[in-house]
Amino acid sequence: MRVEGKCVIVTGAGSGFGRAMALTLAAEGAKVFAVDRDEGTAAQVATEICNNGQKAVSFSCDVTDASRVKQMVANCISELGGLDIMINNAGYTHASQPMDQVSEDEYDRVMNVNVKSIYLSTLEVLPHFRKQGSGVILNTASTAGLRPRPGMSWYNASKGAVITLTKSMAVELAPEQIRVNCVCPVAANTPMLGDFIGDRSKNTEEVRKAMGADIPLGRLTEAQDVANAALYLVSPEAEFITGVALEIDGGRCIS
Ligand SMILES: NC(=O)c1ccc[n+]([C@@H]2O[C@H](COP(=O)([O-])OP(=O)(O)OC[C@H]3O[C@@H](n4cnc5c(N)ncnc54)[C@H](O)[C@@H]3O)[C@@H](O)[C@H]2O)c1
Repeated sequence: MRVEGKCVIVTGAGSGFGRAMALTLAAEGAKVFAVDRDEGTAAQVATEICNNGQKAVSFSCDVTDASRVKQMVANCISELGGLDIMINNAGYTHASQPMDQVSEDEYDRVMNVNVKSIYLSTLEVLPHFRKQGSGVILNTASTAGLRPRPGMSWYNASKGAVITLTKSMAVELAPEQIRVNCVCPVAANTPMLGDFIGDRSKNTEEVRKAMGADIPLGRLTEAQDVANAALYLVSPEAEFITGVALEIDGGRCIS
C-alpha cells in the first residue's frame, strides 16, 4: 500500500481525472474525501470506493466558494480523522474560440475555478499542515500552460498560473516540509474534451484518433495515466520531489 492511512481531499472527484485519482488512491490505502460541485457524482465515486471495501466520504462543494471550502477542510479532518494530501483537480474551460469572443463571465469562471480555488484551499489547509509539520499539495495543471494552442488563451493562462503558483508555493513552503507539485496532462477523452475541440458534437472517435496521432506516443491521455502520476507524487516515494510540473503527454511538449 503506497499511501496507507493517508487522508486525502480530491476535488473534481466525480468525473475524469479526479475520479481515477480517488479510486487509485483508495486502492492504495488512502482515506478519500471525494469532493465535487456535482453532489451525485461525488457520492457515486465514494460509494464505489466503499463497495470495494475501502474508505471514502463524499462532499458537495463549489471550489470557488470560500465558506464551502472552509467547511470542506474542516469536515474532512473531523470525518476522516486528518488531512495529509490536498489535490486541487477541479477545473473548467471556455470552449475553444477567438480570445476576444470569450465573455467576461466565462473568463472569471475559468480563473476562479482553476486558480482562485487553489488560493482558497491553501488558506484552509496550511494551518493544519503547519500544526502537523507536514503536508502534500497536488494541483492539476495542463500542457495548455506549457505549450499554448490558439483558441484556448484564457484557459492556457489559467494553467500557466497553476504551474507558476505550484513552483512558488513549493519554494516558500519547503522549509515547513510541505511539498507542492502539479501534473500537466495533454488532452484526454473526459467531458471537457468537447470544449477543447470547440464543439462538443465534434468529439468523435475519428477526431480523437487524429488528435492522438499528433502525439509522439500515439494516443490521448487516459485518466489512469494521470492517477498513476498523482499516486507517485503524493506518496512518500516522492518525499524529495517538490515544485515539479510533470508532463503526462506522451511526449507532446517536446514535439
Ligand atoms: N480533459 C483534458 O483534456 C484535460 C487536459 C489537461 C488538464 N485537464 C484538467 O484536468 C482537471 C480535471 O478535468 P477532467 O478532464 O477530469 O474533466 P471532467 O469534466 O471530467 O471533471 C471535472 C470535474 O470538476 C468538477 N467541477 C467543475 N467545476 C467545479 C467547481 N467549481 N467546484 C467543484 N467541482 C467542480 C466537475 O463537476 C467535474 O466532476 C481540470 O483541472 C482540467 O482543467 C484536463
